[in-house]
Parts: sequence; structure tokens; C-alpha cells
Amino acid sequence: MDILTALDRKADYSRTQLQFILGAWVLSGFVDRKNKISITDGDVLESDYDKQSIYSLLYSLYRSVGDVPSETGERYELTFNTWGYAWPAAWGPCPTKPTDPERYGKNAYTGLYQFAAVQEYLREKNGRVHVVEMGCGTGAGANLACSEVLPDCTYEAVDMQRAAIETCKRKFVPRHGGRLVATWADATKMPIKEGVADFVAVNETHVTEQPGRATEEDKVFFKTAYRLLKPGGYLVWGNAIPDSTWKPCFDVLEALGMKLVEVRDVTKEAVIARDEDQRRVDLYVDAAIDSFFGFRIPLVGQRRRQEAALAMKNFYRNPGTKLYTNMKDGTDSYKVVLFQKPA
Ligand SMILES: C[S@@+](CC[C@H](N)C(=O)[O-])C[C@H]1O[C@@H](n2cnc3c(N)ncnc32)[C@H](O)[C@@H]1O
Repeated sequence: MDILTALDRKADYSRTQLQFILGAWVLSGFVDRKNKISITDGDVLESDYDKQSIYSLLYSLYRSVGDVPSETGERYELTFNTWGYAWPAAWGPCPTKPTDPERYGKNAYTGLYQFAAVQEYLREKNGRVHVVEMGCGTGAGANLACSEVLPDCTYEAVDMQRAAIETCKRKFVPRHGGRLVATWADATKMPIKEGVADFVAVNETHVTEQPGRATEEDKVFFKTAYRLLKPGGYLVWGNAIPDSTWKPCFDVLEALGMKLVEVRDVTKEAVIARDEDQRRVDLYVDAAIDSFFGFRIPLVGQRRRQEAALAMKNFYRNPGTKLYTNMKDGTDSYKVVLFQKPA
């Protein structure tokens, strides 16, 4: 069993299924010759994993682990699958409490709409805007937008992972009286509703990952965003990706006819967030791994535990991991970007 490649985006694995899946992965440690997960910094080569398999595992796992205490003792279910950033002082009052375990994810979603041009557009529309989010995960950010950031909006949250969309339907959709719709679809393949969105939101969606180039998937992704937007509408996009990838992606967007309005670099604040979030992440990873029996199998259990913990921490860009180092040394940068489709 190779959990990095073999799991299915169409599945929403139960706790019992996860026990078997992780148990089988631990046991395969007796025969596996190659370590796909670096035991120094948690790095996994691009060619050794499939993003659909990883997210399929993670979203089922988050639901299965349920509520856990943060480092300050506040209980939460992991739903923001977001690195986020500390709120930049220049942007005004911080929208989140310092003890909120989800504060960096909440900052990231609030920051998408903090641009002066966006605030002006919202005023003109009396806040009655329609958002389509491409790669919403569990919909935690969609829920925040519908309740606090854009309280008069309607919102369609799209993700390709069924387990994530099921969490959105269970936890968030019922709170918003029909204003929030959760759609299970690959954003590059979904039937496109043309010109429906005032905002297309993209928050840490797992695309635009290849250094120095925009892939075919990236190009279709942006084309979809362009077609979804109303004339005059905005693409609000935040992520930490290879620094060399921003320019090729901007070129794709500009070739589609989109106008670059503003770029904000929050890499420094994103590193601060990862430093300050380390203890919460460590506790979460321990709680998650402790809840699966496979990791107690003698000999291989310990080794697999170490690999799983490092891979998860790398995924969260925890200090000491490859992805954290990439952000610290500038290989990756976190930017929040605003593009407008001309009216
Ligand atoms: C790091 S998670 C971020 C999720 C969410 N935006 C958040 O901040 O919590 C990346 C998400 O991108 C989604 N994703 C990647 N490519 C996608 C695509 N082509 N269509 C829809 N979702 C996609 C993945 O399924 C995953 O849920």
C-alpha cells in the first residue's frame, strides 16, 4: 500500500478504512527498499506522490481525528488546510485573536479581500457579490467569508476531493441558509458557468507548483477563472509557491486579458506564522498519529511513525522541514495577488 499515490479522490474513507490503510502502509515497511519521505526534512519528490492521494488521506484523517486541543487548550477540528500568515501591521487591525488555533488561515482568507480596490467594489455592490472558490478544501475559508468577511455574499465552494466537500456539507453549508453551496469537482474540468462571479478566490490551491513555469493544468485553471468572472470582477489569489513561478503565471493571466492590479508579498509574515504555529502543529500531528494502531506495530511502526510525522510537518511548512526552509531562503514566496477582468 503506497499512501502517497494509491488513494482515491472520490473516496471519503471511514475511520476503520483508515486504520486498515495506514496499517497496510506500516506493514509494507518490511519490504519497501526506498524511503520516499526524507527522514531529515520530510521532503517527498514531486514524482513520488500524487496530490489527489495525499489530500484524500488528509481530509478523511482530519474528520476521523475530530476535535483536538491546540497549544493554548482551545479545541478545534482541523478544517483550514492553510499555512496563512501573520496579519501585516500595515493592513490595519488584526482580524483574529492571538489564541485562535485557526488564526493564520482566517488571516489568509480575510486578506484576499483587504485590497482597497476590492473594498471599493464591495461598497458599490452593497456587499451583494457572488464568489466562486477554486480549491476550497473543507470550506473553512468559505464559511469565514460568508459569516464575517462578506456577510451578504453568495458563495460556491469547489474542490476536487470528495472527503473535503463532505466536511463542507456537514459542517458549514447548513449554517448559511442556502448562501453557501459546496461543489465536488476538479476546477479544471467542471462545467463552466460563464461570467457569474464577482470574485474568483484561490487560496493555497495546490496548483502552480512547478518552478519557473505554468503547467497545462495551471493554464486551464486560470482560463476557467477568467471565464467564471463577470467583466470587472476580480481574481483574488494567495499562496506560497516557487518564487520563479509567479511571473509565468502572471504572463498566462495577462495573455487571457486579465489586468494585474496589485501584488503583496507576505513571505516574512508567513514565516512568522509557521514559527508561531509550530507547537500547535506538533500537537496535532502527534494526536493524529497516536489514533492509528498501525504505528504501534513493532520494528516498522516506529520508522513509519517518523516518516508520517515528518511528511505531515513538511506539508504544513513546520520549522525544520524542506518547505519551511524554502520559504525562509526565498526559494518559495507567499504573495497575495489581485487581477481584474476588464469591464
Ligand atoms: C492546501 S489545500 C488548501 C485548501 C483550502 N483552500 C484552504 O486554504 O484550507 C489545496 C487544495 O487544492 C485543491 N485542488 C488542487 N487542485 C485542484 C483542482 N484542479 N480543482 C479543485 N481543487 C483542487 C486540493 O484538493 C486541496 O483541497
